[in-house]
Amino acid sequence: MAKLRQLVAGNWKMNGTAASLAEIDAVMAGIGNARCDVAICPPATLIAQAVWKSKGSALMIGGQDCHPKASGAHTGDVSAEMIADAGGKLVIVGHSERRADHGEGDALVRAKAEAGWRAGLLVVLCIGETEAQRKSGETNAVLSGQLAGSVPDGATAQNLVVAYEPVWAIGTGLTASSDDIAAAHAHIRARLAERFGDGAKAIRILYGGSVKPGNAAEILGLDDVDGALVGGASLKAADFLAIVAAAV
Ligand code: PGA
Repeated sequence: MAKLRQLVAGNWKMNGTAASLAEIDAVMAGIGNARCDVAICPPATLIAQAVWKSKGSALMIGGQDCHPKASGAHTGDVSAEMIADAGGKLVIVGHSERRADHGEGDALVRAKAEAGWRAGLLVVLCIGETEAQRKSGETNAVLSGQLAGSVPDGATAQNLVVAYEPVWAIGTGLTASSDDIAAAHAHIRARLAERFGDGAKAIRILYGGSVKPGNAAEILGLDDVDGALVGGASLKAADFLAIVAAAV
């Protein structure tokens, strides 16, 4: 099957102040001929300014998390509707750092994905195994369980992107081998097809975990890899653009 149009999304995590908006300018200047869709998810404090800066460009801006509810007494939280109101087009949910740092489980991630859809956002839903789970041969079972528990009914290529992020590869400089990435992506594709039928063929599956300019071409060239979710290497426009340029 022909490759889907890839998505390269940057996840700035808890990094970035107003001075970092210069990186958005540089990314915009560099994606004129990009073969892929390009997104940056800055911290919530910068979403509106990043959207304002990127008006008229193909760069999409998004959030890194959202609360399941649209509004209410939830101090410190940001809703999907607020991200959309600020001009965001997508939201990451279920990132392993949220699952680990905030104890988020599959049911909550599912509710957050539904909130993203309610607000009209593209949902980038993260799944992935820990090192211990991989070592004990549980990778496929973990991925199946996370997909079943956190992807809501009604997923389509227009509203969902799945990000496969082995927890042990995030921010560590370690990447899964090409064989392991291809196997995990094929497994995810098969599970999505079981549940969502033919439409699942067009749901993009991103790889995330220490994607860098030096390994992006190999990873993005693999079967069933439809883009990358990039943490550390998205903070510098030059590195991020080198990854965008590696899209196929
Ligand atoms: P990393 O992070 O590229 O710094 O490993 C990826 C992610 O957590 O999305």
